[in-house]
Amino acid sequence: MTGCGGIGGFNFVRALRLAEKMASRKYFIAGTDFNPYYLLMPDVDVRARSPKHSDPSFKEFVAKLVKEHSIEFVHPHPSSEAKVVAGFVDELGVKHYLPRPEDIAPDKWTMYLKLVEGGVPTPKAVEVRTLEDVDRAFEEMGSPLWIRAKTGAGGRLSLKVNNPEEAKLWIRLHEAQGRARACDFVIQEYMPGRDLAFDSLWFEGELVTSYLRERLEYPLRHVSLTGITGTPSVARIVVDDEASEVGLRAVKALNPRPHGFYSVDIKEDQDGRPRVTEVDGKWHTTAPLWGYAVSKVLGDLRYNIAYLYLELGLRGEMPFDVPKLNLYPEGLYLIRQLDAGVVLRRGEEVFRVA
Ligand SMILES: Nc1ncnc2c1ncn2[C@@H]1O[C@H](COP(=O)(O)OP(=O)(O)O)[C@@H](O)[C@H]1O
Ligand SMILES: [Mg+2]
Repeated sequence: MTGCGGIGGFNFVRALRLAEKMASRKYFIAGTDFNPYYLLMPDVDVRARSPKHSDPSFKEFVAKLVKEHSIEFVHPHPSSEAKVVAGFVDELGVKHYLPRPEDIAPDKWTMYLKLVEGGVPTPKAVEVRTLEDVDRAFEEMGSPLWIRAKTGAGGRLSLKVNNPEEAKLWIRLHEAQGRARACDFVIQEYMPGRDLAFDSLWFEGELVTSYLRERLEYPLRHVSLTGITGTPSVARIVVDDEASEVGLRAVKALNPRPHGFYSVDIKEDQDGRPRVTEVDGKWHTTAPLWGYAVSKVLGDLRYNIAYLYLELGLRGEMPFDVPKLNLYPEGLYLIRQLDAGVVLRRGEEVFRVA
């Protein structure tokens, strides 16, 4: 498993270790990470510090580890690593459950074009090539607007902008500091409504399971101008047929035959209608954490989505039946905070997970 020290990777390992106890299985996990500190944290059997995924030696590093430990299944957790590994995994002689490389972390403009082509509701967008496109964006779409980098995740270089001047200052600042160029941005209609996330697992074009949640709070929100810091500290499960349907259609617009784990980000417009801002063949950070927490509290392995993924990827068949939609109970809150563990809440009931 690569990227096992990141927040999502750590959650994934934790979910598998719980599944081992609940399913009487034993997994040998060789974990890698580029960060030598976070590599120390997950409960893996062997730890190896990896080069960066962009380093030409990354492939050789993974291949060597696979051989050394007779690895049967490869799971690169962060999307940046998954995109690279998906490109060479077939040469390794191992099993995997990865989407096509082009499904993983597509740039926001490509994503937008696919969504429009697939008839999926998405905020209108203008591709920025030069600063003049900023004026055009405000003429065509009004204000406020949402400017964002075409590549990267976690709300990278995004900002709500009220007029062309703000947007141009934002672009110029990032240009001046060598972070990005004007052509690295897109500008979209600003969506003021609920911040929703749809997570789904697919097998050879068939939906296996999915759930929808609303992000309510982000940790350390004051460190970011948008208040978005990548992964929420408070989220709750919601049931909304229209939003889930839009999520499914977004995945199909990206790939008509999805295979692997796919995430969709949805913001609601001023009328409360769902619009897709991102569709990506990647794991949302908390997906394995939901599985860990809910399966632990409710004592039911079927909620453990990391376990389901691994067993399906390893054996090609489901260890049990799960609902295709709304895997987790409506109204369940997942609350997490740096150094404070995880709490689930449903109504007045509070469960301390870890
Ligand atoms: N057009 C938009 N209007 C308002 N907020 C947006 C818009 N697009 C994205 N966001 C916010 O930024 C967050 C991150 O954007 P997202 O589309 O998920 O891309 P990424 O996660 O790759 O940065 C979203 O969850 C949402 O809260
Ligand atoms: Mg996102």
